[in-house]
Amino acid sequence: MWFDGQWRPWPDAAILTLGRASSRVARQHTDGADADIRDTGAMNSMPNPFSYEGKRAAVVGGASGIGAATAALLGQLGADVVVLDIQAASAPGVTEIGLDLTDRESIDRAVGECGGPVDALLSCAGVADGPLLPKINFIGQRHFIERVVEAGWMPRGSAIAMVSSAGGRGWEMNLPTLLELIATPTYEDAVAWMEEHPDMTGYAQSKQAVCAYVARKALDFGRLGIRINALMPGPTDTPLAQANADIWLKYASDYRSELGLGPSTAEEQASILAFLCSPAAARIYGESIVSDAGAGVARLTGTFEPSFN
Ligand SMILES: NC(=O)c1ccc[n+]([C@@H]2O[C@H](COP(=O)([O-])OP(=O)(O)OC[C@H]3O[C@@H](n4cnc5c(N)ncnc54)[C@H](O)[C@@H]3O)[C@@H](O)[C@H]2O)c1
Repeated sequence: MWFDGQWRPWPDAAILTLGRASSRVARQHTDGADADIRDTGAMNSMPNPFSYEGKRAAVVGGASGIGAATAALLGQLGADVVVLDIQAASAPGVTEIGLDLTDRESIDRAVGECGGPVDALLSCAGVADGPLLPKINFIGQRHFIERVVEAGWMPRGSAIAMVSSAGGRGWEMNLPTLLELIATPTYEDAVAWMEEHPDMTGYAQSKQAVCAYVARKALDFGRLGIRINALMPGPTDTPLAQANADIWLKYASDYRSELGLGPSTAEEQASILAFLCSPAAARIYGESIVSDAGAGVARLTGTFEPSFN
């Protein structure tokens, strides 16, 4: 919303409420018509809904790529940042905790070391393939999140954002099977379920599991005052994507060239994750937000058929 020639993220209702409070000044609408009178003094003291000042953020998989960019951004926005990863972190000023998502005991140790409060939990780890993929991309991240929530370390008003992928599109069609996986109560039960469902051990399936998980847990966590959402990035220039560049980075490159765009940067994805865990996203619960520059909706509506190379 434009206000006094400046972009204001707050809704009209908030401004009107504040307008009743104290010193009042007249303002002009951008169309030149006289407007009602609003309170600029109170507006200036309104908290910035994008700020992380005074908050503590935990970034799982925060040593590289999208996670590292997220850790760095949250630090710039004022957060005290903890990075939990199997490799050393690169973002300046963060606290590091070793974590191997393929090992439940390692996750439990890392949760204990992390402690609370955790105002924002960004779950960004991932691999492209291999037999450990289900544990790294979903089962281990779920275990970490649930242990932190159960420990009571996420206060009301806190938020979780997981990283799915644009490759997880269509998860709704697979929901009955995904809900079976999500219903497994423990890390070990989920691993056993995967052994019985080898067709669910691929990359796309792990990303669909993330989308279904945030949708399924939105109410349970919401009752505790915790929001959970996911991001579905398109091709993003990170070490993981570079290692699979022929498939990952070339995907829909013809579509992006229509927009004059290359692959996304890790920083572009990080800013959406930071938004999702900020008060600015206060009414977003259980959603999986696609950030692929519109390639998916171009295909859906028939405006452009992106190629796979
Ligand atoms: N790069 C892309 O094009 C793209 C597109 C869609 C989704 N994603 C997703 O984004 C997320 C981040 O990927 P990225 O591209 O930044 O890759 P990246 O390799 O740069 O980062 C992944 C991080 O996960 C950590 N990790 C891997 N195995 C782990 C384990 N066993 N225990 C703990 N941490 C472990 C890595 O050490 C690394 O820090 C992943 O979930 C990925 O699937 C990436």
